[in-house]
Amino acid sequence: MSLARSLLLAGSRSRFLAGLLRRRHFVGRAARRFMPGEELSDALEAARLLAPRGIGTVLTKLGENVTTLAEAEGVERHYLEALGQIERAALPAQLSVKLTQLGLDVDRAACERSLRALAARVGDGSILWIDMEDSSYTDVTLELFRRVRGDGASVGVCLQAYLRRTPADLEALLPLEPAIRLVKGAYAEPPAVAHAKKRDVDAAYLVLATRLLERAAAGKARPVFGTHDMRLVESIRARAAAAGIPPRRCEWHMLYGIREKDQRTLAASGEAVRVLVSYGSAWFAWYLRRLAERPANVWFVVKNLV
Ligand code: FDA
Repeated sequence: MSLARSLLLAGSRSRFLAGLLRRRHFVGRAARRFMPGEELSDALEAARLLAPRGIGTVLTKLGENVTTLAEAEGVERHYLEALGQIERAALPAQLSVKLTQLGLDVDRAACERSLRALAARVGDGSILWIDMEDSSYTDVTLELFRRVRGDGASVGVCLQAYLRRTPADLEALLPLEPAIRLVKGAYAEPPAVAHAKKRDVDAAYLVLATRLLERAAAGKARPVFGTHDMRLVESIRARAAAAGIPPRRCEWHMLYGIREKDQRTLAASGEAVRVLVSYGSAWFAWYLRRLAERPANVWFVVKNLV
């Protein structure tokens, strides 16, 4: 892992830095590149603008590791309200949630109840996505996914290709005929836990994607590829075509503000594309993870400063 990436990921865990920099306007302006605004209404407006281009959305309110049950209950109420607004506006939008934002650190049973309540409220054919946080949460996230999905709920989970354990996790989940959003992984993890070199992560991603495609070809998995890596996208598309998988059986998810031209091109070519739209005031840790993915982005912040 490069020094710049390590420093940015270390910074993303600092409450002191978050307090110091979140109030600086130039940082806020730079973060706007990756989010349409802090309010739910901003995210819904982004969803409304993307829909006519054939691009769906996944909305997520930023925030993680809440420390009280009251906060977690507030997040659940907020997401229930968001689902209501999505339904009333007939938007092609889904939600993605972080379990620590639903109170996982405070009360696991309450977190599971919230997850079930939200999953029960998603529209027909839609799905509630569960983000994957750092590796200390992998076991519990997969366990809650398994329990809720096992009861037939419409939930999907994110798996991170950089984790060495993920091939085994994927095999263990496949009997559930799961919806899986495969990403590379965004947290600082020790080399014993995660591949450190980009080429190893990319290779792991392709192996996992190929396994998901095999199951999708048999109608036994719903794969979503969360990546902006167009080389990977093209390799996976070629493999899907060779396996006779029709284009819309897999989805391509990208982040708001990244590779927008490729998002439009993919959608125009008949692929199912969604953009993950983040909103909310707790954007600092999330924004530093976006900078760490591409340390050249730091220049964008500097440009905003001057
Ligand atoms: P890679 O980092 O190799 O980037 C490929 C190319 O995309 C770059 O060369 C650049 O052009 C562009 N790019 C990528 N990131 C950029 C950035 N920040 N700014 C500008 N350009 C950029 N992670 C996680 O741990 N848990 C999760 O739940 C999720 N959820 C999630 C959902 C969705 C829809 C996406 C797209 C991603 C996530 N991630 C995530 C983040 C993921 O793990 C990963 O960090 C990023 O997607 C970056 O990896 P890429 O696959 O894009 O490849």
